[in-house]
Amino acid sequence: MIEVKVPATSANVGPGFDCMGIAMSIYGVYRFSVIDEGLIVSGCPKEWQNEQNLVYQSCKRVFDDLQIPMLPLHIDIQADAIPFARGLGSSAACIVAGVMGANALCGYRLSKAEMLTICSELEGHPDNVAPAIYGGLTISFQEGNKVLMTPCQVDKKFKFCAMIPDYPVLTEAARSVLPDSLPISDAVYNIGRSASLALALSSGNSEMVAHACSDRLHQPYRKKLIVDYEMVGELCKQHGVLTWYISGSGSTMMAISDNDNVLASLKQDVCDRFPGWQVHCVAADENGAQVLETCHG
Ligand code: HSE
Repeated sequence: MIEVKVPATSANVGPGFDCMGIAMSIYGVYRFSVIDEGLIVSGCPKEWQNEQNLVYQSCKRVFDDLQIPMLPLHIDIQADAIPFARGLGSSAACIVAGVMGANALCGYRLSKAEMLTICSELEGHPDNVAPAIYGGLTISFQEGNKVLMTPCQVDKKFKFCAMIPDYPVLTEAARSVLPDSLPISDAVYNIGRSASLALALSSGNSEMVAHACSDRLHQPYRKKLIVDYEMVGELCKQHGVLTWYISGSGSTMMAISDNDNVLASLKQDVCDRFPGWQVHCVAADENGAQVLETCHG
């Protein structure tokens, strides 16, 4: 049996729209066992227990690329920790699991860089799949038919509070509210901040994290899709976090602090006000997706 453990990911990180992402210490586990015939998918809603399943589709893509006949598989998905359509990379986790699981089943023929390009093509952008594969903070972009990526570690002093609403925001809807063009001043605003933020997160510069995690490319247009955005922002300010941002395309909002007590009190307050929400204090994952091979199954 092949087991792939994939971290949740928080894309954009404020100014790094479609380029930056951080792997988080929240995990989904995806198991692949070769069976006699057909396909069994378990552990996910019934409507996805078939060939349309994203883990299966991503797995099959690798078999097809390598021109290896698809194996009959049982795919078991234990990924409730990464909720669907909440901005924590649930689809990226499925894609990375499928591609890395298939790579293991096919004898590890693909490099991580090759898997990144395949995963990014399947996802449509690289900012979730890159940290899901490599861990830490990644800065990635498309270059011709390849995805190039710079990995950075996040200084351990920074911790995160993922505030996950009990309602989804679909990425498609969140992309449809973005304008087709922007003033160059907004581009300049984001370029300086995203470069500074990446360096500040990796070097442990709290003050710069607080200043640089601000965005004019997507959050101003998307905040209306998250009805509690303003209230959560007020709570983040009251508790004194360094900064907060919309994780991916939402609905999760992510606070960053270098003080565990600040995040614990924010968590308590958010849980009290929004009893249906999930709120997790987490760290950046350093390792990215891990493949474990066992002999049974
Ligand atoms: N960068 C993407 C977006 C992440 O914000 O639309 C969501 O998958």
